[in-house]
Amino acid sequence: MSYNEILRLALERGFFFPTAEIYSNTPAGLWDYGPLGVKLRERFVELWRKEVVRRDDMIEVDGALIMPRDVFVASGHLESFVDPVVQCKACRAVIRADRYINERTGLQVPERAPEAEMDRMISEHGLRCPTCGGELGNVSKFNMMFSLNVGISGETAYLRPETAQSIFVSFQRVYRVMRLKLPVGLAQFGKSFRNEISPRQSLMRMREFYQAEAEIFFNPEKANLFNKFETFKDFKINICKKEKNGGNSWKTSSLTCLEALESGILPNKLVAYYLALIGRFYEVAGVDPSNIRFRVLGDDERAFYAEAAYDLEVKTSLGWIELVACNYRTDYDISRHAAVSKQDLSVVDDGKKIIPHVFELSMGVDRSLYVVLEQSFQREDERDVLRIKQYLCPVQLGIFPLVTKDGLPEYALEVYGHLKLDFDCYYDDSGSIGRRYRRADEVGVPVCLTVDYQSLRDDTVTLRDRDTMGQIRLGRDKVYMFLKDFLGGKSFGDVAKELGAVWIK
Ligand code: GAP
Repeated sequence: MSYNEILRLALERGFFFPTAEIYSNTPAGLWDYGPLGVKLRERFVELWRKEVVRRDDMIEVDGALIMPRDVFVASGHLESFVDPVVQCKACRAVIRADRYINERTGLQVPERAPEAEMDRMISEHGLRCPTCGGELGNVSKFNMMFSLNVGISGETAYLRPETAQSIFVSFQRVYRVMRLKLPVGLAQFGKSFRNEISPRQSLMRMREFYQAEAEIFFNPEKANLFNKFETFKDFKINICKKEKNGGNSWKTSSLTCLEALESGILPNKLVAYYLALIGRFYEVAGVDPSNIRFRVLGDDERAFYAEAAYDLEVKTSLGWIELVACNYRTDYDISRHAAVSKQDLSVVDDGKKIIPHVFELSMGVDRSLYVVLEQSFQREDERDVLRIKQYLCPVQLGIFPLVTKDGLPEYALEVYGHLKLDFDCYYDDSGSIGRRYRRADEVGVPVCLTVDYQSLRDDTVTLRDRDTMGQIRLGRDKVYMFLKDFLGGKSFGDVAKELGAVWIK
């Protein structure tokens, strides 16, 4: 489905919409989640907690969004978290220099190329302002962090540009109080802030966005002594790597983790295991594995703190989109924080004091939600249907009386009253039953419960499966159990069978 269709769905059905849209001067790159978006995000993050955090015995923390300047002196963000920009001398429009040069000339300009080199390219190719045709000034570096002044003294602080820094600065305490041992993952879900120069495509590039990050601390000498690797040694991943000829062609190979390791494409068992863990997570979230790849970043593409990096990308109508940055950050962060804070941040491993190394899985939650929507939304002959996995569905159950008379609404409302505290369900009696099913299908409601005349006679209701549109008849007393099992991940058919439901012809 196209980006525009997903945006239409998001706006019309309340998944997400622009912040303060009634005002015309709201800055771009700010988006609000509506009721369905909030629920989808909650379920997505819960799935991440289950399939990544708990599966891997990680520990979760939740740091403050505002952090002092020293944190970013140490992390290098004050100096290096910058984008090259160029301003038009006539209309003052600000343009992202590397992307603009690339767009107009086809030349691959690394974002970390020296300003003078970009100035030279702009002048050689006669590039002018894309808005008014005016002359462009010199390229400069723009820091993407939002600064603020705290309290009456006005101390400078920053909104964190990645959740990871909260983990690095509190690592020592968490490690000690939780009596942890290496290797161990610390995870965090929360907001990050970046003053993007050209925010675009709604959830794709925002100024305020959610990340779910996992920082795995380990002894670098033991990256290959990693027993958990066995779980995923046969797990297949697509790895996309630049060809050795030095040109700009990329090759994707589908390999098991063991093959990727033995062929030297991946450096060690720990990295292979975590790539598989996050790849598998997206498969469980409903993304077709053939649309997932790990792109090995070149030297000119990696963040300033990363010695190696693999971007998990998913193929969408907008092209391949990066959802997770998987970075090998070495001991960079912990060592820098130790130096600037003058604290000993080493830990003891096998009786030796070491500064642990870090491999991270840094997930963009908003982009991931867009991808889940795009991959699930389908236009069929007679309906639009969001075939989202049942455990991610924002609304879990629709409850409908077949007609609005003869006691059917009262019965249906009673069922609703019993289920609404445990499930996200709604009551709908407006329009024909067919229209009510269509409305439910469009936002992915996985089951609809209908109360009909037979319900009054024998206390059974019908349950309709969104995906097949098949219907079963089930005792009202078994509906709760049905929902628990089905929404927990079992198939509609299996649960129907287990509970002795009768299929309606
Ligand atoms: N801790 C490492 C880190 O933050 P990153 O590549 O800058 O790495 C990680 O960001 C993920 O966060 C990206 O893969 C993307 O999914 C998401 N992300 C980054 N900037 C974003 C933005 N402006 N809007 C939405 N998502 C963003």
